[in-house]
Amino acid sequence: MTSPATPPRSLTAIVLAAGKGTRMRSDLPKVLHRIAGRTMLGHVLAAVQAAGAGRIAVVAEPGREDVAAEIAREAPGAQVFPQAERLGTAHAVLAARAVLETPDDDVVIAFGDTPLISAETFLRLRAPLADGAAVAVLAFESPVPTGYGRVLTEGSRVLAIREEKDASPAERAVTLCNAGLMALSGQHALKLLSRIGNDNAAGEYYLPDAVALAVAEGLTITVVPVDEAEAQGVNDRVQLSIAEAAIQARLRRSAMLGGATLVAPETVFLSHDTILGRDVVVEPHVVFGPGVRVADGCTVRAFAHLTDTVLEARVRIGPFVRLRGHAVLETGAELGNFVELKNAHMGPGAKAAHLTYLGDAEIGAKANIGAGTITCNYDGVLKHRTNIGAGAFIGSNSALVAPVTVGEGAYVASGSVITDDVPADAMAVARGRQAVKPGWAKLKRAALLAEKALRGGR
Ligand code: UD1
Ligand code: MG
Repeated sequence: MTSPATPPRSLTAIVLAAGKGTRMRSDLPKVLHRIAGRTMLGHVLAAVQAAGAGRIAVVAEPGREDVAAEIAREAPGAQVFPQAERLGTAHAVLAARAVLETPDDDVVIAFGDTPLISAETFLRLRAPLADGAAVAVLAFESPVPTGYGRVLTEGSRVLAIREEKDASPAERAVTLCNAGLMALSGQHALKLLSRIGNDNAAGEYYLPDAVALAVAEGLTITVVPVDEAEAQGVNDRVQLSIAEAAIQARLRRSAMLGGATLVAPETVFLSHDTILGRDVVVEPHVVFGPGVRVADGCTVRAFAHLTDTVLEARVRIGPFVRLRGHAVLETGAELGNFVELKNAHMGPGAKAAHLTYLGDAEIGAKANIGAGTITCNYDGVLKHRTNIGAGAFIGSNSALVAPVTVGEGAYVASGSVITDDVPADAMAVARGRQAVKPGWAKLKRAALLAEKALRGGR
Protein backbone atom coordinates (compact mmCIF):
# COMPACT_ATOMS: atom_id res chain seq x y z
CA MET A 1 0.00 0.00 0.00
CA THR A 2 1.35 3.43 -0.89
CA SER A 3 0.88 6.21 1.62
CA PRO A 4 -0.76 9.38 0.31
CA ALA A 5 1.75 12.10 -0.59
CA THR A 6 2.02 14.70 2.16
CA PRO A 7 1.30 18.17 0.81
CA PRO A 8 4.31 20.50 1.03
CA ARG A 9 4.29 22.70 4.12
CA SER A 10 3.50 26.34 3.50
CA LEU A 11 6.03 28.97 4.55
CA THR A 12 5.87 32.64 5.50
CA ALA A 13 9.11 34.58 5.72
CA ILE A 14 9.29 37.74 7.81
CA VAL A 15 12.29 39.85 6.89
CA LEU A 16 13.38 42.53 9.36
CA ALA A 17 14.72 45.48 7.42
CA ALA A 18 14.04 48.50 9.59
CA GLY A 19 17.66 49.17 10.54
CA LYS A 20 18.92 52.70 9.87
CA GLY A 21 22.48 51.52 9.50
CA THR A 22 24.05 54.60 11.03
CA ARG A 23 27.53 53.04 10.92
CA MET A 24 27.33 52.74 7.14
CA ARG A 25 27.58 56.58 7.04
CA SER A 26 25.33 56.61 4.02
CA ASP A 27 22.30 58.35 2.57
CA LEU A 28 21.11 54.92 1.44
CA PRO A 29 19.27 52.60 3.86
CA LYS A 30 21.63 49.83 4.95
CA VAL A 31 19.69 47.00 3.28
CA LEU A 32 19.96 48.71 -0.13
CA HIS A 33 23.75 48.51 -0.21
CA ARG A 34 24.87 46.08 -2.88
CA ILE A 35 26.86 42.87 -2.87
CA ALA A 36 27.75 41.33 -6.25
CA GLY A 37 25.38 43.76 -7.95
CA ARG A 38 22.34 42.91 -5.81
CA THR A 39 21.09 44.69 -2.69
CA MET A 40 21.49 42.88 0.64
CA LEU A 41 17.70 42.87 0.88
CA GLY A 42 17.56 41.32 -2.61
CA HIS A 43 19.91 38.51 -1.54
CA VAL A 44 17.76 37.75 1.51
CA LEU A 45 14.51 37.87 -0.48
CA ALA A 46 15.98 35.54 -3.11
CA ALA A 47 17.14 33.04 -0.48
CA VAL A 48 13.82 32.85 1.38
CA GLN A 49 11.93 32.47 -1.91
CA ALA A 50 14.28 29.65 -2.92
CA ALA A 51 13.59 28.04 0.46
CA GLY A 52 9.90 27.93 -0.41
CA ALA A 53 8.43 31.10 1.09
CA GLY A 54 5.10 31.60 -0.66
CA ARG A 55 4.29 34.61 1.47
CA ILE A 56 6.78 37.29 2.44
CA ALA A 57 6.40 40.16 4.89
CA VAL A 58 9.11 42.80 5.08
CA VAL A 59 9.27 45.05 8.13
CA ALA A 60 10.74 48.40 7.11
CA GLU A 61 11.16 51.94 8.28
CA PRO A 62 7.95 53.82 7.32
CA GLY A 63 7.86 55.91 4.16
CA ARG A 64 10.92 54.44 2.42
CA GLU A 65 9.87 54.45 -1.23
CA ASP A 66 13.27 53.14 -2.28
CA VAL A 67 13.00 50.10 0.00
CA ALA A 68 9.42 49.45 -1.15
CA ALA A 69 10.49 49.62 -4.81
CA GLU A 70 13.32 47.17 -4.20
CA ILE A 71 10.95 44.74 -2.45
CA ALA A 72 8.54 44.97 -5.41
CA ARG A 73 11.42 44.21 -7.79
CA GLU A 74 12.92 41.29 -5.88
CA ALA A 75 9.77 39.73 -4.39
CA PRO A 76 6.64 40.89 -6.22
CA GLY A 77 3.66 40.29 -4.00
CA ALA A 78 5.58 40.70 -0.75
CA GLN A 79 3.78 42.81 1.85
CA VAL A 80 5.55 45.71 3.54
CA PHE A 81 4.84 46.53 7.19
CA PRO A 82 6.13 49.73 8.78
CA GLN A 83 7.90 49.69 12.13
CA ALA A 84 7.92 53.31 13.27
CA GLU A 85 9.78 52.84 16.54
CA ARG A 86 12.59 50.30 16.91
CA LEU A 87 11.62 48.57 20.12
CA GLY A 88 13.38 45.28 19.49
CA THR A 89 13.39 42.26 17.23
CA ALA A 90 10.17 40.75 18.62
CA HIS A 91 8.44 44.12 18.29
CA ALA A 92 9.64 44.24 14.67
CA VAL A 93 8.24 40.77 13.92
CA LEU A 94 4.92 41.76 15.46
CA ALA A 95 4.70 44.69 13.05
CA ALA A 96 3.76 41.91 10.62
CA ARG A 97 1.17 40.52 13.05
CA ALA A 98 -1.42 40.36 10.25
CA VAL A 99 0.43 37.50 8.50
CA LEU A 100 0.75 35.59 11.79
CA GLU A 101 -2.99 35.82 12.34
CA THR A 102 -3.60 33.62 9.28
CA PRO A 103 -0.59 31.38 9.78
CA ASP A 104 1.22 29.20 7.31
CA ASP A 105 2.64 25.90 8.59
CA ASP A 106 6.10 27.42 9.02
CA VAL A 107 7.42 30.91 9.71
CA VAL A 108 11.06 31.95 9.29
CA ILE A 109 12.46 35.22 10.53
CA ALA A 110 15.31 36.65 8.46
CA PHE A 111 17.36 39.83 8.82
CA GLY A 112 17.82 42.19 5.87
CA ASP A 113 21.36 42.95 6.98
CA THR A 114 22.44 39.30 7.20
CA PRO A 115 22.85 38.56 3.50
CA LEU A 116 25.00 35.42 3.45
CA ILE A 117 22.42 32.95 4.76
CA SER A 118 21.83 30.55 1.86
CA ALA A 119 18.51 29.05 0.77
CA GLU A 120 19.88 25.69 1.91
CA THR A 121 20.40 27.05 5.45
CA PHE A 122 16.84 28.43 5.53
CA LEU A 123 15.65 24.95 4.49
CA ARG A 124 17.69 23.35 7.29
CA LEU A 125 16.31 25.93 9.73
CA ARG A 126 12.66 25.15 8.93
CA ALA A 127 13.15 21.37 8.65
CA PRO A 128 12.71 20.59 12.42
CA LEU A 129 9.23 22.19 12.33
CA ALA A 130 8.05 19.36 10.06
CA ASP A 131 9.19 16.96 12.81
CA GLY A 132 7.16 18.74 15.47
CA ALA A 133 9.50 21.43 16.83
CA ALA A 134 7.80 24.70 17.76
CA VAL A 135 10.97 26.78 17.51
CA ALA A 136 14.23 26.24 15.63
CA VAL A 137 17.16 28.45 16.51
CA LEU A 138 20.11 29.04 14.20
CA ALA A 139 23.33 28.99 16.21
CA PHE A 140 27.12 28.69 15.98
CA GLU A 141 30.02 28.01 18.28
CA SER A 142 32.32 31.02 18.58
CA PRO A 143 35.63 31.26 20.43
CA VAL A 144 34.86 34.98 20.82
CA PRO A 145 31.15 35.12 21.64
CA THR A 146 31.15 38.74 22.85
CA GLY A 147 28.09 40.67 21.73
CA TYR A 148 25.95 37.70 20.76
CA GLY A 149 22.98 36.24 22.57
CA ARG A 150 24.04 32.95 24.24
CA VAL A 151 22.07 29.75 23.76
CA LEU A 152 21.68 28.23 27.23
CA THR A 153 21.30 24.46 27.32
CA GLU A 154 21.04 21.63 29.83
CA GLY A 155 22.27 18.44 28.26
CA SER A 156 20.63 18.35 24.86
CA ARG A 157 17.74 20.57 25.98
CA VAL A 158 17.61 24.24 25.07
CA LEU A 159 16.47 26.42 27.99
CA ALA A 160 16.70 30.01 26.84
CA ILE A 161 18.68 32.58 24.89
CA ARG A 162 20.31 35.26 27.01
CA GLU A 163 21.40 38.59 25.51
CA GLU A 164 24.92 39.63 26.46
CA LYS A 165 23.64 42.66 28.39
CA ASP A 166 21.47 40.47 30.61
CA ALA A 167 23.86 37.55 31.04
CA SER A 168 25.56 36.49 34.28
CA PRO A 169 29.33 35.88 34.17
CA ALA A 170 28.67 32.13 33.94
CA GLU A 171 26.26 32.65 31.04
CA ARG A 172 28.78 34.90 29.29
CA ALA A 173 31.22 32.01 29.31
CA VAL A 174 28.85 30.04 27.05
CA THR A 175 30.21 29.83 23.50
CA LEU A 176 27.06 28.67 21.67
CA CYS A 177 25.76 31.86 20.05
CA ASN A 178 22.38 32.81 18.64
CA ALA A 179 22.65 33.77 14.97
CA GLY A 180 19.45 35.80 15.41
CA LEU A 181 17.36 34.06 12.73
CA MET A 182 14.66 31.70 13.85
CA ALA A 183 11.95 29.41 12.55
CA LEU A 184 8.62 29.08 14.38
CA SER A 185 5.68 26.83 13.77
CA GLY A 186 2.81 28.93 12.46
CA GLN A 187 0.53 27.32 14.99
CA HIS A 188 2.52 28.71 17.94
CA ALA A 189 4.23 31.82 16.54
CA LEU A 190 1.73 34.56 17.38
CA LYS A 191 0.94 33.17 20.83
CA LEU A 192 4.64 33.01 21.78
CA LEU A 193 5.59 36.37 20.29
CA SER A 194 2.68 38.23 21.89
CA ARG A 195 3.85 37.15 25.34
CA ILE A 196 7.35 38.54 24.99
CA GLY A 197 7.94 41.43 27.39
CA ASN A 198 10.61 44.12 27.60
CA ASP A 199 11.77 43.66 31.17
CA ASN A 200 15.50 43.47 30.40
CA ALA A 201 18.66 45.56 30.36
CA ALA A 202 17.84 47.14 26.98
CA GLY A 203 14.13 47.62 27.62
CA GLU A 204 13.54 45.91 24.26
CA TYR A 205 11.22 43.17 23.08
CA TYR A 206 13.67 40.34 22.34
CA LEU A 207 12.71 37.77 19.70
CA PRO A 208 14.99 35.14 21.32
CA ASP A 209 12.76 35.25 24.41
CA ALA A 210 10.35 33.07 22.40
CA VAL A 211 12.63 30.17 23.36
CA ALA A 212 12.12 30.37 27.15
CA LEU A 213 8.38 30.87 26.62
CA ALA A 214 8.25 27.77 24.42
CA VAL A 215 10.17 25.81 27.07
CA ALA A 216 7.59 26.85 29.69
CA GLU A 217 4.86 25.52 27.40
CA GLY A 218 6.64 22.17 27.11
CA LEU A 219 7.21 22.70 23.38
CA THR A 220 10.18 21.31 21.44
CA ILE A 221 13.09 23.62 20.57
CA THR A 222 15.82 22.58 18.15
CA VAL A 223 19.22 24.15 17.56
CA VAL A 224 20.30 24.21 13.91
CA PRO A 225 24.04 24.77 13.42
CA VAL A 226 25.47 27.30 10.97
CA ASP A 227 28.98 28.61 10.26
CA GLU A 228 29.72 31.82 12.11
CA ALA A 229 30.90 33.35 8.82
CA GLU A 230 27.56 32.65 7.12
CA ALA A 231 25.66 34.25 10.00
CA GLN A 232 27.59 37.52 9.87
CA GLY A 233 25.57 40.70 9.69
CA VAL A 234 26.67 43.89 7.98
CA ASN A 235 26.85 47.04 10.08
CA ASP A 236 29.58 49.04 8.36
CA ARG A 237 31.47 49.14 5.06
CA VAL A 238 34.25 46.92 6.32
CA GLN A 239 31.72 44.17 7.03
CA LEU A 240 30.11 44.93 3.66
CA SER A 241 33.43 44.17 1.98
CA ILE A 242 33.75 40.92 3.96
CA ALA A 243 30.28 39.88 2.80
CA GLU A 244 31.22 40.82 -0.79
CA ALA A 245 34.30 38.60 -0.58
CA ALA A 246 32.23 35.69 0.73
CA ILE A 247 29.65 35.98 -2.05
CA GLN A 248 32.35 36.40 -4.70
CA ALA A 249 33.99 33.20 -3.46
CA ARG A 250 30.67 31.35 -3.81
CA LEU A 251 30.00 32.74 -7.30
CA ARG A 252 33.50 31.87 -8.52
CA ARG A 253 33.26 28.38 -7.14
CA SER A 254 29.91 27.73 -8.77
CA ALA A 255 31.16 29.16 -12.10
CA MET A 256 34.19 26.83 -12.00
CA LEU A 257 32.16 23.79 -10.95
CA GLY A 258 29.82 24.66 -13.84
CA GLY A 259 32.67 24.22 -16.33
CA ALA A 260 34.28 27.65 -16.67
CA THR A 261 38.03 28.09 -16.21
CA LEU A 262 38.92 31.12 -14.10
CA VAL A 263 42.67 31.32 -14.47
CA ALA A 264 43.05 33.56 -11.40
CA PRO A 265 39.66 33.34 -9.69
CA GLU A 266 40.45 35.86 -6.97
CA THR A 267 40.84 38.58 -9.66
CA VAL A 268 37.53 37.88 -11.42
CA PHE A 269 34.47 39.71 -10.09
CA LEU A 270 31.06 38.28 -10.82
CA SER A 271 27.51 39.53 -10.36
CA HIS A 272 24.76 37.54 -8.66
CA ASP A 273 23.25 36.82 -12.09
CA THR A 274 26.38 36.18 -14.18
CA ILE A 275 26.01 33.06 -16.32
CA LEU A 276 29.18 31.43 -17.66
CA GLY A 277 28.80 28.38 -19.92
CA ARG A 278 30.94 25.27 -20.30
CA ASP A 279 34.51 25.66 -21.46
CA VAL A 280 34.43 29.40 -21.04
CA VAL A 281 37.93 30.66 -20.23
CA VAL A 282 38.22 33.86 -18.22
CA GLU A 283 41.70 35.34 -17.96
CA PRO A 284 42.79 37.39 -14.93
CA HIS A 285 41.27 40.74 -13.97
CA VAL A 286 37.82 40.63 -15.48
CA VAL A 287 34.73 42.35 -14.06
CA PHE A 288 31.25 41.04 -14.83
CA GLY A 289 28.60 43.61 -13.91
CA PRO A 290 24.90 42.71 -13.81
CA GLY A 291 23.14 41.15 -16.78
CA VAL A 292 25.92 39.14 -18.44
CA ARG A 293 25.48 35.78 -20.11
CA VAL A 294 28.46 34.02 -21.71
CA ALA A 295 27.68 30.93 -23.79
CA ASP A 296 29.82 27.81 -24.16
CA GLY A 297 33.35 27.97 -25.46
CA CYS A 298 33.90 31.73 -25.18
CA THR A 299 37.22 33.28 -24.22
CA VAL A 300 37.27 36.49 -22.18
CA ARG A 301 40.81 37.79 -22.09
CA ALA A 302 42.38 39.89 -19.36
CA PHE A 303 41.05 43.28 -18.23
CA ALA A 304 37.58 43.05 -19.71
CA HIS A 305 34.65 44.94 -18.14
CA LEU A 306 31.19 43.69 -19.12
CA THR A 307 27.69 44.70 -18.09
CA ASP A 308 24.34 43.93 -19.77
CA THR A 309 26.03 41.78 -22.41
CA VAL A 310 25.36 38.52 -24.21
CA LEU A 311 28.18 36.51 -25.76
CA GLU A 312 26.94 33.63 -27.91
CA ALA A 313 29.02 30.48 -28.42
CA ARG A 314 32.75 30.66 -29.11
CA VAL A 315 33.02 34.44 -29.03
CA ARG A 316 36.53 35.73 -28.23
CA ILE A 317 37.02 39.12 -26.67
CA GLY A 318 39.87 41.17 -25.29
CA PRO A 319 42.23 41.87 -23.75
CA PHE A 320 40.99 45.32 -22.62
CA VAL A 321 37.40 45.46 -23.84
CA ARG A 322 34.42 47.30 -22.42
CA LEU A 323 30.93 46.02 -23.26
CA ARG A 324 27.81 47.68 -21.91
CA GLY A 325 24.29 48.97 -22.52
CA HIS A 326 23.06 45.81 -24.20
CA ALA A 327 25.93 44.47 -26.24
CA VAL A 328 25.24 41.23 -28.11
CA LEU A 329 27.90 39.23 -29.93
CA GLU A 330 26.73 36.31 -32.00
CA THR A 331 28.54 33.02 -32.47
CA GLY A 332 32.20 33.30 -33.32
CA ALA A 333 32.36 37.10 -33.27
CA GLU A 334 35.71 38.56 -32.11
CA LEU A 335 36.87 41.72 -30.42
CA GLY A 336 40.50 42.62 -29.88
CA ASN A 337 42.21 45.07 -27.57
CA PHE A 338 40.76 48.46 -26.67
CA VAL A 339 37.32 47.96 -28.16
CA GLU A 340 34.17 49.41 -26.59
CA LEU A 341 30.62 48.40 -27.51
CA LYS A 342 27.48 50.12 -26.24
CA ASN A 343 24.02 48.99 -27.34
CA ALA A 344 25.58 47.21 -30.29
CA HIS A 345 24.90 43.92 -32.00
CA MET A 346 27.55 41.98 -33.92
CA GLY A 347 26.46 39.19 -36.25
CA PRO A 348 28.14 35.78 -36.40
CA GLY A 349 31.85 35.93 -37.17
CA ALA A 350 32.00 39.75 -37.24
CA LYS A 351 35.33 41.20 -36.06
CA ALA A 352 36.72 44.39 -34.57
CA ALA A 353 40.32 43.67 -33.74
CA HIS A 354 41.69 46.96 -32.41
CA LEU A 355 40.89 50.38 -30.94
CA THR A 356 37.25 50.83 -31.83
CA TYR A 357 34.03 52.35 -30.48
CA LEU A 358 30.77 50.86 -31.73
CA GLY A 359 27.74 52.53 -30.15
CA ASP A 360 24.08 52.11 -31.17
CA ALA A 361 25.26 49.93 -34.03
CA GLU A 362 24.18 46.87 -35.95
CA ILE A 363 27.07 44.97 -37.51
CA GLY A 364 26.26 42.20 -39.98
CA ALA A 365 27.73 38.72 -40.12
CA LYS A 366 31.45 38.53 -40.93
CA ALA A 367 31.81 42.28 -41.29
CA ASN A 368 35.35 43.48 -40.55
CA ILE A 369 35.79 46.68 -38.59
CA GLY A 370 39.26 48.18 -39.01
CA ALA A 371 41.44 49.64 -36.28
CA GLY A 372 40.38 53.04 -35.01
CA THR A 373 36.82 52.92 -36.35
CA ILE A 374 34.40 55.16 -34.49
CA THR A 375 30.63 55.30 -34.78
CA CYS A 376 29.73 58.94 -34.16
CA ASN A 377 26.39 58.11 -32.57
CA TYR A 378 25.75 61.29 -30.60
CA ASP A 379 25.12 64.76 -32.01
CA GLY A 380 25.14 66.45 -28.63
CA VAL A 381 21.39 65.95 -28.18
CA LEU A 382 20.24 62.70 -29.78
CA LYS A 383 21.67 59.23 -30.33
CA HIS A 384 21.58 57.74 -33.83
CA ARG A 385 22.14 54.26 -35.24
CA THR A 386 24.81 52.93 -37.54
CA ASN A 387 24.02 49.90 -39.72
CA ILE A 388 26.86 47.94 -41.24
CA GLY A 389 25.82 45.15 -43.60
CA ALA A 390 27.07 41.57 -43.64
CA GLY A 391 30.55 41.15 -45.06
CA ALA A 392 31.25 44.91 -45.18
CA PHE A 393 34.84 46.08 -44.70
CA ILE A 394 35.44 49.28 -42.78
CA GLY A 395 38.96 50.60 -43.38
CA SER A 396 41.07 51.74 -40.45
CA ASN A 397 40.51 55.09 -38.78
CA SER A 398 37.09 55.69 -40.26
CA ALA A 399 34.40 57.78 -38.63
CA LEU A 400 30.83 56.69 -39.37
CA VAL A 401 28.55 59.65 -38.67
CA ALA A 402 25.16 58.28 -37.64
CA PRO A 403 22.47 57.86 -38.76
CA VAL A 404 24.21 56.05 -41.56
CA THR A 405 24.11 52.70 -43.35
CA VAL A 406 26.93 50.83 -45.02
CA GLY A 407 25.45 48.17 -47.31
CA GLU A 408 26.35 44.50 -47.44
CA GLY A 409 29.75 43.76 -48.89
CA ALA A 410 30.64 47.46 -49.21
CA TYR A 411 34.13 48.88 -48.62
CA VAL A 412 34.90 52.05 -46.72
CA ALA A 413 38.36 53.36 -47.48
CA SER A 414 40.71 54.03 -44.55
CA GLY A 415 40.52 57.41 -42.94
CA SER A 416 37.06 58.18 -44.32
CA VAL A 417 34.46 60.30 -42.59
CA ILE A 418 31.24 58.67 -43.81
CA THR A 419 28.19 60.94 -43.62
CA ASP A 420 26.08 59.44 -46.44
CA ASP A 421 24.80 55.90 -46.88
CA VAL A 422 27.04 53.53 -48.84
CA PRO A 423 25.19 51.10 -51.15
CA ALA A 424 25.87 47.36 -51.03
CA ASP A 425 29.09 46.28 -52.74
CA ALA A 426 30.14 49.90 -53.35
CA MET A 427 33.37 51.54 -52.21
CA ALA A 428 33.21 54.86 -50.39
CA VAL A 429 36.22 57.10 -49.90
CA ALA A 430 35.75 60.34 -48.01
CA ARG A 431 39.13 62.00 -47.47
CA GLY A 432 41.57 64.31 -49.32
CA ARG A 433 43.06 62.75 -52.47
CA GLN A 434 46.76 61.90 -52.19
CA ALA A 435 49.25 64.10 -54.09
CA VAL A 436 52.81 62.86 -54.80
CA LYS A 437 55.65 65.28 -55.74
CA PRO A 438 58.68 63.33 -57.07
CA GLY A 439 62.06 64.51 -55.67
CA TRP A 440 60.47 67.18 -53.47
CA ALA A 441 61.89 65.85 -50.21
CA LYS A 442 65.46 65.60 -51.53
CA LEU A 443 65.43 69.24 -52.77
CA LYS A 444 63.90 70.48 -49.55
CA ARG A 445 66.50 68.68 -47.46
CA ALA A 446 69.36 70.16 -49.51
CA ALA A 447 67.92 73.68 -49.11
CA LEU A 448 67.57 73.26 -45.36
CA LEU A 449 71.12 71.91 -44.95
CA ALA A 450 72.49 74.91 -46.94
CA GLU A 451 70.58 77.27 -44.68
CA LYS A 452 72.03 75.54 -41.59
CA ALA A 453 75.62 75.88 -42.94
CA LEU A 454 75.07 79.64 -43.47
CA ARG A 455 74.07 79.88 -39.76
CA GLY A 456 77.35 78.26 -38.68
CA GLY A 457 75.93 74.80 -38.21
CA ARG A 458 73.39 75.73 -35.58
C1 UD1 B 1 20.39 39.81 17.64
C2 UD1 B 1 19.93 38.80 18.71
C3 UD1 B 1 21.13 38.12 19.33
C4 UD1 B 1 21.99 37.49 18.26
C5 UD1 B 1 22.38 38.51 17.21
C6 UD1 B 1 23.11 37.87 16.06
C7 UD1 B 1 17.92 39.85 19.61
C8 UD1 B 1 17.32 40.58 20.76
N1 UD1 B 1 19.21 39.54 19.74
O1 UD1 B 1 21.10 40.83 18.31
O2 UD1 B 1 20.70 37.14 20.24
O3 UD1 B 1 23.14 36.91 18.84
O4 UD1 B 1 21.19 39.15 16.67
O5 UD1 B 1 23.64 38.85 15.24
O6 UD1 B 1 17.22 39.53 18.66
N2 UD1 B 1 15.53 45.11 13.82
C9 UD1 B 1 14.39 45.75 13.45
N3 UD1 B 1 13.67 46.45 14.37
C10 UD1 B 1 14.04 46.49 15.69
C11 UD1 B 1 15.25 45.84 16.06
C12 UD1 B 1 15.95 45.14 15.11
O7 UD1 B 1 14.02 45.72 12.26
O8 UD1 B 1 13.33 47.11 16.47
C13 UD1 B 1 16.32 44.36 12.83
C14 UD1 B 1 17.68 44.96 12.61
O9 UD1 B 1 17.66 45.89 11.54
C15 UD1 B 1 18.53 43.75 12.25
C16 UD1 B 1 17.87 42.62 13.04
O10 UD1 B 1 16.57 43.08 13.34
O11 UD1 B 1 18.42 43.44 10.89
C17 UD1 B 1 18.65 42.27 14.30
O12 UD1 B 1 18.73 43.39 15.12
P1 UD1 B 1 20.10 43.81 15.81
O13 UD1 B 1 19.88 45.11 16.50
O14 UD1 B 1 21.21 43.70 14.86
O15 UD1 B 1 20.22 42.66 16.91
P2 UD1 B 1 21.54 42.22 17.65
O16 UD1 B 1 21.80 43.15 18.76
O17 UD1 B 1 22.62 41.99 16.68
MG1 MG C 1 23.01 42.57 14.69
